[in-house]
Formats: sequence, structure tokens, C-alpha cells
Amino acid sequence: MNSRRDFLKQMSKAALAAGAVPSVLVSALEAQQSGALQIPGEEDMLVRSARFFDLETPVEYFSTWLTPVPHFFVRNHMHEPSELSAADWRLAIGGEVEKPCTLNLSELSALPTHSVVNTLECAGNGRSFHHPQVPGIQWGKGAVGTARFSGPRLADVLQRAGVKSSGKHVMFRGLDEIPGKVPAFIRSIPIEKALDSDSLVATHMNGALLTRHHGFPARALVPGWIGAASCKWLTEIKVLDAEFVGNFMSPGYRFPNQPVNPGEAVKPDDTHPLTALNVKSVIAGPLDGAHVKAGRITVRGTAWAGEADIVKVEVSTDGGADWSPATLGREQAHYAWRLWNYDWKATSGDCTVLSRATDSQGHVQPATPVWNPSGYLYNATDQVKVHVS
Ligand code: MTE
Repeated sequence: MNSRRDFLKQMSKAALAAGAVPSVLVSALEAQQSGALQIPGEEDMLVRSARFFDLETPVEYFSTWLTPVPHFFVRNHMHEPSELSAADWRLAIGGEVEKPCTLNLSELSALPTHSVVNTLECAGNGRSFHHPQVPGIQWGKGAVGTARFSGPRLADVLQRAGVKSSGKHVMFRGLDEIPGKVPAFIRSIPIEKALDSDSLVATHMNGALLTRHHGFPARALVPGWIGAASCKWLTEIKVLDAEFVGNFMSPGYRFPNQPVNPGEAVKPDDTHPLTALNVKSVIAGPLDGAHVKAGRITVRGTAWAGEADIVKVEVSTDGGADWSPATLGREQAHYAWRLWNYDWKATSGDCTVLSRATDSQGHVQPATPVWNPSGYLYNATDQVKVHVS
């Protein structure tokens, strides 16, 4: 490869051959150095990886309860499927079932539709804030977003095949294109969560068909759980008598059973699979490093807690010495984040502004990060430095 420009040209040709959107891919590559992606007609996304398209939402976009799809983070472990045809798409349901079957998109769409507003967060969101640094995509604060997902209940889809009593876990396979000899992105969830009335085979996001980046034509939606549970480009559902064994169940997406010292290794036997998200808040404004005029400033942000509800968000404007309650936004749903705001009478000086959420199970964001070797579930109190003049 002679130059970055040649590389971009080659990637563009490859993307064309693969039926991808070359202008976006090229923009992603070009933007990698600046950290900002320009997609015509859409606002900037932060490119954390252009290889498989890992796009982060800048926090200032966390100002609406539902995240517009063009601003919704994207997390791909592999190449997106190059051929996606609604007419040819099929979903196979098999394994520990009475009648294995295959549904086409019309048959799937004929099942009753259910909607769930869900905050989807990548387990690795915030990984870049761990010290010592851990390997993996170095997400900042924005690998999270909230959308209204709609489609048939996963339970109704499973019922078409009839789950046997031996069925204990449900495995999802997507249509990702696997680069070389790496393991496929296959994971499973326990049957109880699969049969929950809010778990979906989603075909829509915010009222429109899923886009390619978010799993067109259908994805699993496992509300309140780490994003990895919600398999995109779903093509196979298999009921298993035990948890799926594979790279993305172990060693991937596991958390130490006991607290570990930063930098310490953990034996695989001392870990468990990640499931629900934990309590977290993020400050969406003012931005870190902002210069503001003394007077009334609105500190605003968002807070979520997986399968629990947010009951309180507190804000400190003096580096964590004193805390005051923020006002929670009106819009709420069980698996969705709450927007919040706090009216700050700012006086001149350099200030550290923090936010801290509490959930309905009594969990409070910790002051210091809970370090773990893969950097999952970062949820320390958020903070920004603000200069007031
Ligand atoms: N499904 C497939 N088939 N392939 C993937 O790489 N990534 C998972 C999940 N589903 C992934 C997938 C991860 S890690 C996350 S966080 C979410 O999709 C992200 O969903 P989004 O890209 O729609 O935001």
C-alpha cells in the first residue's frame, strides 16, 4: 500500500464490490484521523474503528429521549452483510423445538407487533477511561442510544416451532461476513429472557425499517441487556439445552466474579457472562473543556440502569463535595434512559461538574471505575471540567 489515498481507493472499490456504501466507508477512513465522520445530511459521528464500522455518538446529541437513527452508535465485530434482500431473507428456528421451521419476512411480519423503547449500550462503552488501559475498541461515552424497537415478540416466534422442555438457552446467528478464520459472532441468552414479553425480533427502529447498520431486516432485541445480546442481521435462532460455547460467550463478554485490582489477570473460571447493564449517567452539556459565562447554566444529560429504573440523578458543581438533585425528564419507559437537567448558578472559576445516578435497586454510580481486564460496564460518576468567566 503506497499511501493512505491508495488505501482509500482500494477500500472504496472493495466496498463497491461488496455492495456497501462506499462514500460512507471512505469518509469513515478519511475521518479516522480527525475522529469525526461526515455523512452527507447527517451530523458527525466519532469513528472508533473504520475496519468494521464502529461509530460513536458525540454526547452533545444526547438531548432527545429517542436517538435519531443517523446518530445512533454502530458496533460491528465483522463486515456487514454485503447482500441483504428482504425477498430472499429467511429466519430458521431449530434446535430443541418440536417443529423446526423457517419464516420469510412476510410470515414474520404477520405476527403481532410489539414496541419497546430500549437504551442499547455496548458493554465496552467507556472502555477508554479505564486505567491501566485495556485492549478493545476505545469507546468514549457515546456507545449508547435509545430507540423504539418494534417487531414480533421472540416468544411468539419461538412458539411457532414449539420449545421443548429441554430448551434452556436461545442462540442467535447473524449474517455478518466473517473476515478470515475468526469465530462467528454467535451468542445465546437464557430461555427465561428469550420468553420475556419484551424480547423481540425487531424489524423497525423509531418507526422505520431497520437500516443496514442496525441489522436490516431483523435483529434480536434483548432489552436492558448489553448490546451484544441483540444480534443483528438475524438469520438463525437455535434453542439449546445449555449455554452456547463460543468466543463471544467465553472469553468474550464475561465479568470477574470478585473485584480485581487494576491490571490484575483473572482466571476464566472466576468470571460470569454479562447480562443486564448497570446504573450510569452521562453529562451531555456543558461539554468537557467548555468556556461559559457566569450566570445560569443548564447542566443536562441522560441516565439509565438496564433492567432497573432511574430514581435519582445528582449533580455536583464543586468537584464532588456537594450534591444536588437534578430534575428528571418526563419521558420514561422501563428499559429506557431518563433525560435530566440541573439549573446551575455558575460563578467564575475552574469547576469540575459531576453527575451520579441511583437506580430502583439501590445501586449508585461509583466514584471510581470498577476495573476489569476487558474494560466492560464502565459506570463511574461522569465529570466535565468547565471554565466559568
Ligand atoms: N450482531 C451481529 N450480527 N454482529 C455484531 O457485530 N454487535 C453487537 C450487537 N449485535 C453485533 C451484533 C454489539 S457488541 C452491540 S453493542 C450491538 O449490536 C450494537 O447495535 P447497533 O450497532 O445497532 O448500535
